[in-house]
Amino acid sequence: MFEAITKKLSPSSLRSKTREMVPIDEAKKIVAYAAVDDLLQDNMVLGIGSGSTIIPAVTRIAEKVAQSNLKIKCVPTSFQARQLILAHNLPLYDLEICPELDLTIDGADEVERSTKYCIKGGGGCLLQEKIVASASKSLAIICDYTKISGQLGDQWKKGIPIEVAPISHVVVKRKIEFTFGGEANLRMAKAKAGPLVTDNGNFILDWDFTFKEDSQMPWDEINQSLMMIPGIIDTGLFINMANVVYYAEKDGSVHKI
Ligand code: A5P
Repeated sequence: MFEAITKKLSPSSLRSKTREMVPIDEAKKIVAYAAVDDLLQDNMVLGIGSGSTIIPAVTRIAEKVAQSNLKIKCVPTSFQARQLILAHNLPLYDLEICPELDLTIDGADEVERSTKYCIKGGGGCLLQEKIVASASKSLAIICDYTKISGQLGDQWKKGIPIEVAPISHVVVKRKIEFTFGGEANLRMAKAKAGPLVTDNGNFILDWDFTFKEDSQMPWDEINQSLMMIPGIIDTGLFINMANVVYYAEKDGSVHKI
């Protein structure tokens, strides 16, 4: 189900820019504002996602909380999200105090249009994101047009992020490659020698899932099989988790799946 919702949802300050191509950062802001305006309600317990698209979303949440004196509780999905909540003086909670959330708003690295299956974890935050989303009545994904695809892998070329216990990374890599094919590469840190370490003290394998010919199982089965491998903490495959996806087109119009 697709619905062009630009007129209804885009803030008037942004609408004038929607006739021509908008830069990606502008598209992220437009979709973030539109989704928050559509979804945020008083007294919500809200999961705050991670990544770059969530940054303008938190700005908008803070604006609306201040404007309308909303009482909300924010649960972060990462260290970054926690910092964003604190920086905007929003009420910071956690899953021990709030094990049931009304809504989580989060970004994605890729969204399969027909199923709303997502690849997440490009920023290394998939585990907490998935736990918080699983505790939420609804998961809303916000993204720009570069993330929407016909099938997983069409757009996101960096592989499926898989969070693993550090001691297991070679064992898990070999099992994934032997079972499914492709290559599972240890993600290296950018400003530190050695591997990237997640918020949870784990490593990430990015699985370039070039399957052996005709051997691709359905994604839900692949995800279940991956989760059976000892050492895998969780995967960046978000299967049957997103309830709604808001995305901004090249012209700045916002659509809802
Ligand atoms: C974080 O690890 C990811 O799951 C993000 O949600 C995802 O990478 C989307 O980030 P952007 O909004 O920066 O594209």
